[in-house]
Amino acid sequence: MHEQMTIEREYTEGRTTFLSADVDHYSGDKKQPTTSLPVFYNPRMQVNRDLSVLFLTAYMKSYPVEMLCEPLTGSGIRTLRYLNECPGEFHAVMCDANPLAVETARRNVEALGFSNRARVIHGDAKVLLITESRETRFDFVDIDPFGTPAPYLPPAMQSIIPKEGLLAVTATDMPVLCGVHPKIALRRYGGFSIRSPFTHEVAVRLLNGFIYSMAGSNDCAMEPLAILSTDHYIRTWVKIYTNRTESNKQTSELGVIRYCAGCMHSDVAPLSPRGQHSRFDHKIEGCTGSILVAGPLWIGKLYNDDFLRNAIKVLENSETSNFHNKAPSMLERMAEESVLTDTPYIDLHALCDLHNLVPVRNQIIIERLREQGFEAARTHFKSTAIRTTASVGEIARILVEHNSR
Ligand SMILES: C[S@@+](CC[C@H](N)C(=O)[O-])C[C@H]1O[C@@H](n2cnc3c(N)ncnc32)[C@H](O)[C@@H]1O
Ligand SMILES: [Zn+2]
Repeated sequence: MHEQMTIEREYTEGRTTFLSADVDHYSGDKKQPTTSLPVFYNPRMQVNRDLSVLFLTAYMKSYPVEMLCEPLTGSGIRTLRYLNECPGEFHAVMCDANPLAVETARRNVEALGFSNRARVIHGDAKVLLITESRETRFDFVDIDPFGTPAPYLPPAMQSIIPKEGLLAVTATDMPVLCGVHPKIALRRYGGFSIRSPFTHEVAVRLLNGFIYSMAGSNDCAMEPLAILSTDHYIRTWVKIYTNRTESNKQTSELGVIRYCAGCMHSDVAPLSPRGQHSRFDHKIEGCTGSILVAGPLWIGKLYNDDFLRNAIKVLENSETSNFHNKAPSMLERMAEESVLTDTPYIDLHALCDLHNLVPVRNQIIIERLREQGFEAARTHFKSTAIRTTASVGEIARILVEHNSR
């Protein structure tokens, strides 16, 4: 049979130039990868990879990384960027089930001069994670699949432990994680998703909850380092380490988020063998809205402040200005919100809709809240949302005041 040549193009991301199938050629008007793309590369995920480079560099300031694995590598760009843009002489194992992707990734590895540091294997990611890690465990595993990462997480966990390591995981099955298919979320991630104005936070917490369960079932604990949420995907970075006592303690980081669409109040309740008896405190008098329950999911911290500060320093000291222009502001907002993740973010536009009010600029609301003694911050999740220790009732009062001026 006559094999068609792949139409390729040179791309540059960060400081790394590489070849991959031409996305525009194969995707036409859609301008993003479709199934006709022979080798997967999505230019729209650059900010994901930018932050991944910064976060790996920040991680390496505290922990050694000698061997990393990207078992679903596509064109190879993610690992190529790690090799090219992060310090150190670590080695990498890459893999893809698509032979064309393997061939492309191998050529890219060679062209960039990394043949002595990286191997590209053709095969199944799950098998590779187990087989390639038996002699030396991976210090960093990056799972970046189509759709759900759930099937890859058990072998990824096995490929890190009993050593400690960094695990980064992307999920793109947003309808499942954001409440369109709550039952699929339950079977995939161990908790129900719900529709709510903070649905992406539920998504991230479901993913972290599932990772914790994987860690916990292997007597490991996890330390959340950072998360990233966009319209189309979420991503999390966690440190995994063997520690039975910590893992036991972290059972209190599993819980549920309760939400009432009638008054937009949400709260967080840990799981308890005695059941959940705390009363739900509606924020509009007489509200009889029914309460949706998301989870079980991770109710603990989403970020490590020192880790974020290190990543910001890495960005500031970086020689390249080739990062996506969104990367610095994303990091800034993550650092702002990192101390305020005890309860979900609040979408001010949704709150204004509920009370028939005209939206007021976020910064004004944040300042008013601070003047009144509350903590408040922007969030990277959504430009119309904030995080605060104030309730939706207290925010609504400020919004009413501004609307009546
Ligand atoms: C989302 S793409 C990876 C993108 C890449 N990580 C990046 O940052 O550009 C997912 C890749 O997984 C590959 N794949 C799908 N199922 C696989 C499996 N079971 N084992 C190995 N690779 C697989 C696909 O061929 C595709 O290249
Ligand atoms: Zn209510």
